[in-house]
Order: sequence, then C-alpha cells, then structure tokens
Amino acid sequence: MQGLLPSERRRALAFCVAFCLPSYRLFAKFATSTIMFSMKRILIVNGPNLNLLGVREPGIYGKCKFEDYLPELKRAFPEVELSYYQSNIEGELIDKMQEVGFTADGIVLNAGAYTHTSIALLDCIRAIESPVVEVHISNVHQREEFRHHSMISAGCRGVVCGFGLKSYKLAIEALTDDN
Ligand code: DQA
Repeated sequence: MQGLLPSERRRALAFCVAFCLPSYRLFAKFATSTIMFSMKRILIVNGPNLNLLGVREPGIYGKCKFEDYLPELKRAFPEVELSYYQSNIEGELIDKMQEVGFTADGIVLNAGAYTHTSIALLDCIRAIESPVVEVHISNVHQREEFRHHSMISAGCRGVVCGFGLKSYKLAIEALTDDN
C-alpha cells in the first residue's frame, strides 16, 4: 500500500472488502461444507440394560458409564460425526435404525439381550441400507450357552465382541477404514 495516495489506498481497501472478503467467506463456506460432506456419519445404538453400564454387573461390563466413554470415542474419531441412542424397547431401536439407516454411513449396534431373540431386529438390519456392525462388550462365547447364538449376525457386516468398551472403537474403525 506504500506509495499510494490515501484515496488510492481507500480504493484498494474498498476493492479488498468488496471482492476478497466475500470470496474468502465463500471459500470458507465451501471448505466447511466439503469437510461436513466428507465426514462420515455413524450412529451407535445400545439396547436393553446398557443404560446401566458402570452399575450393571461391573465384573462383566466394567465400571464405566457409556456416556463417560462417548467423549473418548469422539476424540478418537474427529473426522466422524458420531451420535448415540439407547433404548430398552425393541420397537424404539427399530424406529431409530429405520430413521437413520438410509443416510448414515454405518450403525454400531449392541442389541443387548435382543441379540439372541429378535427376528424383528434382523429384518430391520436387512431392510436398511447402512452397514451394521454387531458389538458386544463381553465375549458372549465364553458365557451361558443361550448367548452363543445371535439372531442378528446374519444381517450384519461384521461382529466385534469381548474387548470391553473398546469393542465400539474397533467397530467404528471397521466402518471408517476405506481400504
Ligand atoms: C451384551 C451381551 C448380551 O448377551 C447381553 O444380554 C447384554 C450385553 C454385551 O455387550 O456383552 O445385554 O450384548
């Protein structure tokens, strides 16, 4: 700007304000929407009794509430838009999965005891488009026989079980790994 008359300086400044600022804003808007657009959207769904994590059988499920673990997951996957839903009611789990299951990039599902009983959840997983990863905190195969069979695995992209809360992290990794 040196060597310019004040009026020329003013004109140069006005030019910057008139053209550069809006195009900077436009660029910022474009960059933000590109990042938002390329961000993967994943929903974590927890079924019955998983609202009691931290309190419920801590020897099996650990002492950490899921709500306390969620921020750690969000920090581990800053490029993922993670949302969380829990219900003790089978139909509500199905409603939620139908709601997001045509737009989300993936669903991480711990169906709790419904894993072993619910044909309705299997049908839902098969009806939606988003890939579903079945997750269990405990290693169900080391537990009672009735936990060895899953009604929903056949419709799922994969299964992660037995790694404590880390099972959720591994499932998200599987859903976000582009290779
Ligand atoms: C569970 C295993 C199920 O058998 C059980 O009914 C649960 C939790 C798990 O995360 O280990 O509620 O899904």
